[in-house]
Amino acid sequence: MDIRYERGEVLETAADALIVPVGASGGAAEWNGLAAELDTRLNGELSRIGKDARFSGKRGTSLLVPTLGRLPARRVVFAGTGPSKDLDSEAIRRGWAAAVIAARDAGASQVISAMPPGGASLELSAALIAAVEGARLATYRFSTYIGTARRDDPVPAVERLTFVGDGDAKAVESALANGAAIAAAVAMARDLVNEPASVLTPVAMAEHAERISAEHDLEIKVLGPAELESMGAGAISAVGKGSTNEPRLIHLTYRPKGIEPDGRQVGLVGKCITFDTGGYSIKPYEGMLEMKGDMAGGAAVLAAMGALRPLGCQAVVHGVICAAENMISGAAFRPGDILTALNGVTIEVLSTDAEGRLVLADGLVYTARLGVDEMIDLATLTGAANIALGDGTTALFANDDGLAQRLLRHSAAAGERFWRMPLIDEFEEKIRGDIGDIKNSGGRPGGAITAALFLRHFSEGLPWAHLDIAASARSERASGYNTKGATGAGVRTLLRYLAPEA
Ligand code: BES
Ligand code: MN
Ligand code: ZN
Repeated sequence: MDIRYERGEVLETAADALIVPVGASGGAAEWNGLAAELDTRLNGELSRIGKDARFSGKRGTSLLVPTLGRLPARRVVFAGTGPSKDLDSEAIRRGWAAAVIAARDAGASQVISAMPPGGASLELSAALIAAVEGARLATYRFSTYIGTARRDDPVPAVERLTFVGDGDAKAVESALANGAAIAAAVAMARDLVNEPASVLTPVAMAEHAERISAEHDLEIKVLGPAELESMGAGAISAVGKGSTNEPRLIHLTYRPKGIEPDGRQVGLVGKCITFDTGGYSIKPYEGMLEMKGDMAGGAAVLAAMGALRPLGCQAVVHGVICAAENMISGAAFRPGDILTALNGVTIEVLSTDAEGRLVLADGLVYTARLGVDEMIDLATLTGAANIALGDGTTALFANDDGLAQRLLRHSAAAGERFWRMPLIDEFEEKIRGDIGDIKNSGGRPGGAITAALFLRHFSEGLPWAHLDIAASARSERASGYNTKGATGAGVRTLLRYLAPEA
């Protein structure tokens, strides 16, 4: 979908469809602003049709009305943005998602849009970014493997979305470009997660990283099994042992160029288990079904790294992706094994299915040694995070209140639901080792918390945040701007956190 800006009068512009925002008040659509002007022009018929169709203007709703030759645009699509007192970027994201889907399903290819509403609490640039995110992400498709058997079932596509208004072209175009960069990063994360594990191996992940680093002038270093073992990264090495697809630790570095650096150095660490069978602590059928997506943390890190230069990030950012495949073979690690992580901490393996915290242990220590000021890890780490918070929420743990607050604030602006969880010190006892320093499983109760406590042993005294995205990396169904399958969880928040323009 090509997205652009045109200065002009949106009601006088021809198109297959015209998107116009409509708010809500007292449970009914609120026809004011451009919607009211349009309604007047059509003799109050639009608001009458809206009433008949019970269009409420609630956020994420839409109403498509053919204009029967009475407007240069063939259809109007109203984008519900909800009550004006609740107007935020998420209202815009959801409204534009619904409107663009309605336009697409009606076969509209050239779509124009009024400027999204803003106000005291919502700047036009943030509203435009959100509108682009909603439009692009809602129409995302993973179509790589849709083949000849489905040729009779084409999904129409919106080819161009043009925002029309009288705003300053430079400012509007820059907001649209930032929105497009963020949406492209989220789409890239979704693509990687949706890709089958037979294709997206640790080596393939490293190849994607090479491509991204060449495109965006990033430094890259890729460590294989020999280097990992001689370096002392015994945890990721053990997890990778059971697979013929060798593990890789992928390290990308972004440095600001041609812009003023802000002096910050941030480390991002991603769990990238390209497939999680559970190992010898094997998963049952249902539990293994979606485990090609156990690399969503690594995908989010790579996708975010690729958007830092387009978004003008002023911090130095290290992206470390801990890639391995958790399989079973004569060489695989076992319950009862003792592993030594990169910082010398010894780990007793209770479950080979608690492999994510193992690869992250080495990844966090590696990242701390780069001299970063703070670290953020992303991982589809525990089923327990899903049990605790339900679908769609990211569990945030942090040993630093400032970092936690900053991430929560940016997650709200990004429209990603984060919830802070406690690091309960008393639970340390659950992961105290019998013959080693710590155990890799603390049992079922508080499973997301004991996993986070485990990771804290590798934070090396730095401010550190852990995002358990097990419940947010995948959506069971299309909803809002999420499509069924991968969501790209974490990317929008990271980019807002790292690039102030986003
Ligand atoms: N990758 C899983 C966690 C997961 C489960 C992610 C469901 C997404 C959806 C992780 O490696 C795992 O298996 N965790 C175990 C930990 C346990 C053995 C301590 C779990 O959650 O059961
Ligand atoms: Mn596992
Ligand atoms: Zn896993």
